[in-house]
Amino acid sequence: MRPTPVYYYSSASGLVRTFAERLGWPAFNLAEREHRRSEVDGPWVLLTPSCTTGNEANDTVPEAVRRFLRSAHNRRLLVGVMGSGNRNFGRYYQHAAREIAARSGRPVLLEFELAGTPWDVAEAQRVLAELDAALAHRHAS
Ligand SMILES: Cc1cc2nc3c(=O)[nH]c(=O)nc-3n(C[C@H](O)[C@H](O)[C@H](O)COP(=O)(O)O)c2cc1C
Repeated sequence: MRPTPVYYYSSASGLVRTFAERLGWPAFNLAEREHRRSEVDGPWVLLTPSCTTGNEANDTVPEAVRRFLRSAHNRRLLVGVMGSGNRNFGRYYQHAAREIAARSGRPVLLEFELAGTPWDVAEAQRVLAELDAALAHRHAS
């Protein structure tokens, strides 16, 4: 069974990276050019923080994520989105994950704060395992 890879972006504070590395699933950091410029080899999950910039448009989607999603191939194979955020940002909580999900028509699979709790990690693993099984089933039938 192919484990559904997680492509994530994490800034210098590394909270999302900490979460991604705890998953025990293939995880690729879009902060690294090699991954940012790659094309996926099958269905994948996006894990993104929200980063309010305070500029006029108040973009919250990290540039590396935006860049990766410029590929129509990558967009087509996106299965769902997980978001890391901070409730202190009020109405912008999880803005990036929610916006990408709304625009792509894919579900938000999980939302958590900062580096997540052990429960969040377990929940992400449960969701990914379910996805792996569903995709293997689809492939077989
Ligand atoms: C400058 C800045 C802006 C942020 N803006 C938002 C936001 O708009 N919405 C939100 O839910 N979280 C926001 N956060 C919280 C981050 O998404 C959250 O801390 C995330 O875990 C950071 O992951 P990273 O350390 O891997 O980059 C912001 C954090 C920073 C430092």
